[in-house]
Amino acid sequence: MQERILHYLKKSHGYISGEEISHHLNISRAGIWKNIQELRKHGYEIIAVPHLGYSLVASPDKLFPFEIKFDLGTKIFGQKIVYYETVHSTMDEAFELGVEGAPEGTVVCAEGQTKGRGRLGRSWASPKGKGIYMSIILRPQLSPSEVARLTLLCAVAVSEAIKKVTGLEPAIKWPNDLMVDNLKLAGILTELSAEVDQVKFVVVGIGLNVNSSTSQLPFGGTSIKTVLQKSFSRVEIIQEILRAFERWYERLKKEGFSPVVHQWKELSLTLGRRIRIVDPAGTTEGEAFDIDKDGGLLIRNDMGTIVKKMAGDVVVVR
Ligand code: BTN
Repeated sequence: MQERILHYLKKSHGYISGEEISHHLNISRAGIWKNIQELRKHGYEIIAVPHLGYSLVASPDKLFPFEIKFDLGTKIFGQKIVYYETVHSTMDEAFELGVEGAPEGTVVCAEGQTKGRGRLGRSWASPKGKGIYMSIILRPQLSPSEVARLTLLCAVAVSEAIKKVTGLEPAIKWPNDLMVDNLKLAGILTELSAEVDQVKFVVVGIGLNVNSSTSQLPFGGTSIKTVLQKSFSRVEIIQEILRAFERWYERLKKEGFSPVVHQWKELSLTLGRRIRIVDPAGTTEGEAFDIDKDGGLLIRNDMGTIVKKMAGDVVVVR
C-alpha cells in the first residue's frame, strides 16, 4: 500500500488530497495517515496541509525497488528487483535466484556489500550508500565461448548511461574497466552457469563508484563525485543503465555483435596502444590491434605473431 500511495504522491507533482488517494486506493483516511507515517520513517519527506492534502517534498537516497521501477520504461530489465541494505555480494544472491529460475532481467542491488568481489579474485570496495552494486540475470542464446560479448556490451551500456546522467563519458579499458583520467570508475564481472555447450544463465555484476570519497576507494580508483565535485542520484543512474543495457541487448539479438564492437572501439583506451597483459599463461607485450567476434583481445607481439587473450590485466606501455 505504501508503494501505491507513493505512486500517487509522485505523479501529482504538488498536493493530492487524502480524499483522492482514499478514492483511488479504496483505503480509509486513517489508513492513509498510518502509511504516510511509515513512509516518513523510511526517509520520505511528506508534508500534510489542511484542505490541500499531501505533498512529497523529498525522497531518501536509497535504492528502493519502487524508486528504480518508477517511470523506468523497460520491458525486461528491472521488472523484478531484489533489494538488500547489506549483503555479502549481489553476485551470490543473483546466482542463487538464477538457479531457482528467476526471469531474465532480474536485478539484485544493495546499498553496501561486505564481500564485494571483482575479477581475478580481487575484492570490490562497496561503501554503503555511496555506489551502485548490482547484478543482473540474463538468459542469452549464446554458447559459453560467446558470453564475453556481454561484458563488452555492458561496458558500452554503462558508459552511455553515465554520460546521459552526468555528462562524463568514461573510456573502456579492455575488457571491462570504465576509466576516467586513467582512474577506475566502474568494473563489470560476468559469471555463468552452463552445460558443455549451452548457457543456462549469466550474471552480470556492475560496480560503479558514484558518490564515494577518495578515502573510500582503493588506489587507482575514482568516483563520479570526485571527478565532477557533485553528488548524483544513484537511482537515476541505475534506471539509465537498465534502459541502455536493454537497448543494447535487444540490438545484439537483432543485429549481432558488430554494433557493440563498433561502439566499444569508439570508447576504447586499449586498441592501437602498445600494452602488456598478464594472465596465468605469462606476460604478453605488443600492439593491441583488434577485438574478435568473441570479445577477445588480439595482440601483435614483437615477432609479428597474433595472440588472442580472453582475460588478464592490461597495462598500457605507451
Ligand atoms: C572488476 O572490475 O574487477 C569487476 C568488479 C565488479 C563489482 C560488482 S559490484 C556488484 C557485483 N557484486 C560483486 O560482488 N561484484 C560485482
